[in-house]
Amino acid sequence: PVLVVDFGAQYAQLIARRVREAQVYSEVVPHTATVAELVAKDPVAIVLSGGPSSVYADNAPQVDPALFEQGIPVFGICYGFQAMAQALGGVVAHTGAREYGRTELAADGGVLHEDLPARHPVWMSHGDSVTKAPEGFTVTASSEGAPVAGFESVAKRFAGVQYHPEVGHSPHGQEVLRRFLHDIAGIRPQWTTASIVDEQVTRIREQVGDGRAICGLSGGVDSAVAAALVQRAIGDRLTCVFVDHGLLRAGERTQVERDFVAATGVNLVTVDARERFLSALAGVSDPEQKRKIIGREFIRVFEQAAQDLQDKEQYDFLVQGTLYPDVVESGGGAGTANIKSHHNVGGLPEDLQFKLVEPLRALFKDEVRRVGLELGLPETIVHRQPFPGPGLGIRIIGEVTAERLEILRQADAIAREELTSAGLDRDIWQCPVVLLADVRSVGVQGDGRTYGHPVVLRPVSSEDAMTADWTRLPYDVLERISTRITNEVAEVNRVVLDVTSKPPGTIEWE
Ligand code: XMP
Repeated sequence: PVLVVDFGAQYAQLIARRVREAQVYSEVVPHTATVAELVAKDPVAIVLSGGPSSVYADNAPQVDPALFEQGIPVFGICYGFQAMAQALGGVVAHTGAREYGRTELAADGGVLHEDLPARHPVWMSHGDSVTKAPEGFTVTASSEGAPVAGFESVAKRFAGVQYHPEVGHSPHGQEVLRRFLHDIAGIRPQWTTASIVDEQVTRIREQVGDGRAICGLSGGVDSAVAAALVQRAIGDRLTCVFVDHGLLRAGERTQVERDFVAATGVNLVTVDARERFLSALAGVSDPEQKRKIIGREFIRVFEQAAQDLQDKEQYDFLVQGTLYPDVVESGGGAGTANIKSHHNVGGLPEDLQFKLVEPLRALFKDEVRRVGLELGLPETIVHRQPFPGPGLGIRIIGEVTAERLEILRQADAIAREELTSAGLDRDIWQCPVVLLADVRSVGVQGDGRTYGHPVVLRPVSSEDAMTADWTRLPYDVLERISTRITNEVAEVNRVVLDVTSKPPGTIEWE
């Protein structure tokens, strides 16, 4: 792999994704890894990421100069660029000239910047600057605040840039990264969707042997792609279990039972647990309690289904759709895995005696989607927007009942339909529709007074759901949604728009 050494900024995973976009496999490693540990992973190149403010700061992570004596190509970015310059005998100075944000780069030849516009924008974020490149390096870029903004030594296969080539605000950044990987480090681009599928299929076959595996399908992208990969590897020896907890949106069960099965030919067992969830949720309106109940019931139902399968045949493996961002060790927490705190319905039943199969463990979400398409899954599944495990249960503010679920399901289906036909699916991250079931307001419809419930539209734009902005949907789309919901859904007489970003609001209301 290419190892991306994470110096604790938020950019390491993004760099790893960009390296993979150049069709080279990459992994993120914490900056606490020793040179021996890095070498043990047999890297084809090492990228030093951006990081804290200054190489002179107290506790600034250091780069061991021995790293540059291993014959491994190295690329430094921002902080990594400065740390590299310093380790190799260049000069890094407090010039006082800070640059943050969009900056004009003067680029001049070399391999990295050859034939790029002589002046072009890049994204900078630095206080200190490299004022003198190490010996043997050619300087190929500069900016007002960074006299040395890019250098390279083709002979040593080392290079670096002061700016952030990985972000979209550096329009030529991906090309620069590609040139380092392909032209300076000499790595052949082999990480393609087809190669990912081949490799994972081989691994799954090795791991499972002639055993059998169970996979819980949630209707989401990850479990669907994981299941499709395992199906490709072991065929009939995979059985998928789909729990209908009654908190699904309109059409979701069909999507799994009909579309997913048609695309993959997978063995599917559906458990209809709608009644069970409704009775467990009766009388409960506290959000955390709802989440606990849904999670607990889900595991029980899944365990029972697994037990029923076990009674007929031996199953040793459980398939999980864990993704790379959930397992990557980042520099910030000095080697601790960062695991999502959200509870995932479809999560691991703790006391089941299964070995885990996690075919997506090395993949980013965009790669998972491409693998899904490669495996022939329909667009509706592959590009499905995120939907929380506890489903509509946490989008009814108040007690969850069958009637309320039906109301919300109709309103949600209308909103989704209108957003899709307006071509807005790719612009929004997701658009929860929330039923304020304990609130009523007065309205007028036809000749009569109504006293119905409001629904809230919560359209958000986001990169990763950690932060989000409310989406400025066109008024005519909002109008169509509002008119249709109030006309077509009995009990709803008002549609309101949530214009809160995250933070301070979370995306879901509960
Ligand atoms: P919040 O509401 O925390 O949501 O801003 C962030 C993202 O996570 C989804 N979400 C969940 N997903 N299980 C999940 O699998 C959950 O319990 C859960 N709660 C929220 C939410 O839809 C959004 O995409």
